[in-house]
Amino acid sequence: MQRFVVRRILSETNSTNSQRCNRCFFSQPAQKQETPLSDNEVFLPKMPPFDYSPPPYTGPSADEILAKRKTYLSPSLFHFYNKPLNVVDGKKQYLFDENGRRYLDGFGGIATVCCGHSHPDVVDAVINQIKCIQHSTVLYLNHVIADFAEALASKMPGNLKVVFFTNSGTEANELAIMMARLYTGSNDIISLRNAYHGNAAGTMGATAQSNWKFNVVQVKTLKLVKRESCRRKIYQKFCMYQVNDKTGVHHALNPDPYRGAFGSDGEKYAKDVQELIDFGTSGHVAGFLSEAIQGVGGIVELAPGYLPDVYKSIRKAGGLCIADEVQAGYARTGSHFWSFEAQGVVPDIVTMAKGIGNGIPLGAVVTTPEIAEVLTRRNYFNTFGGNPLCTAAGHAVLKVIEKEKLQDNAFVVGSYMKERLNALKDKHESKLFFALNHILGFPF
Ligand SMILES: Cc1ncc(COP(=O)(O)O)c(C=O)c1O
Repeated sequence: MQRFVVRRILSETNSTNSQRCNRCFFSQPAQKQETPLSDNEVFLPKMPPFDYSPPPYTGPSADEILAKRKTYLSPSLFHFYNKPLNVVDGKKQYLFDENGRRYLDGFGGIATVCCGHSHPDVVDAVINQIKCIQHSTVLYLNHVIADFAEALASKMPGNLKVVFFTNSGTEANELAIMMARLYTGSNDIISLRNAYHGNAAGTMGATAQSNWKFNVVQVKTLKLVKRESCRRKIYQKFCMYQVNDKTGVHHALNPDPYRGAFGSDGEKYAKDVQELIDFGTSGHVAGFLSEAIQGVGGIVELAPGYLPDVYKSIRKAGGLCIADEVQAGYARTGSHFWSFEAQGVVPDIVTMAKGIGNGIPLGAVVTTPEIAEVLTRRNYFNTFGGNPLCTAAGHAVLKVIEKEKLQDNAFVVGSYMKERLNALKDKHESKLFFALNHILGFPF
């Protein structure tokens, strides 16, 4: 197996780490120029040779781009490093900045680029499709969406065979929550503390990290009421919608095997879900939404044995089990294609995004035919969801994962990295590396 190497690292004591990171983090110039090491840098072996150098960059400088961003883009946009990286090219596992410096991309656009930057098969699929037809509407027939849905369904266990395409993970989770509510006729959703599921009304409600939750009502449940309280009689006969100021979401204890209240005892955490059902709801719930490995929550696997017990409690309360595979799914864990498989469960609804498009905006919800039926009660429509361009890219990504055995690669590289980091942990007795698992694998 190839060894991943970092040329230089900085001493931990350096207070200007973030500023320097664009020099040190897995980076190396594409050309053979060497820069002298300063005192606080340590020499490490070179990155392997690579047969691609980007063409000379002629665009605006990083400073000009930053100034434009500050003027014209949302003030909420933040960036890594004091001197942010200007990424102008990407090939396979590498990124290149405006000076041609090469970086090993261990981040993959927030766990999204799952088969490498500019993979030729994906590029060809996108170009061929856009030359043919980029968008019509799902109201007409086109084989691309149907072919990809069939391929995706073939990767699912049980009777999870019906696919809805969306444009993002947030949309996929919103749809899944709505379907669970419609199917069960119940409102209550249980999700986990420390979870991230998206940033729209329902998903922000299900998210449980204060820095990702704006101080607004996150789910409005509307109730039709008579305006009898109105002083003017003429208005009293009119009905109006009243907003129930509640999220409809309960956040269960996070079954974090490292920092959680019950250590790695999954069954004890699962009892908390049963208690939430017993004491916090009518005894009936719409569903349970969780990842099997919390991504934004720190890349931590749920305690073993947790999901089987929780799924039992949820189903007993009439609810559906929703697996959010947006970040951890799609071959990333290496050991399985879907991260829930490691807990030996089969969900009722699975949501996905990020890696399924390798960077093309694409999300999906997969469920059973029976549950999918609920959306026929009204019109459900998504203008871009499942358009030929995105689904052509998605299908190409799935084929690349299979052809290049990227799941196996994630397992091998992830295991190796885990082993090496564990060795560092033992050496330095540091708690820094306690939350490692196979999601560390570089799938490409
Ligand atoms: C587990 C999980 N679910 C949902 C989302 C939301 O996906 P998106 O940003 O595509 O809306 C994310 C995004 O990071 C995620 O990590």
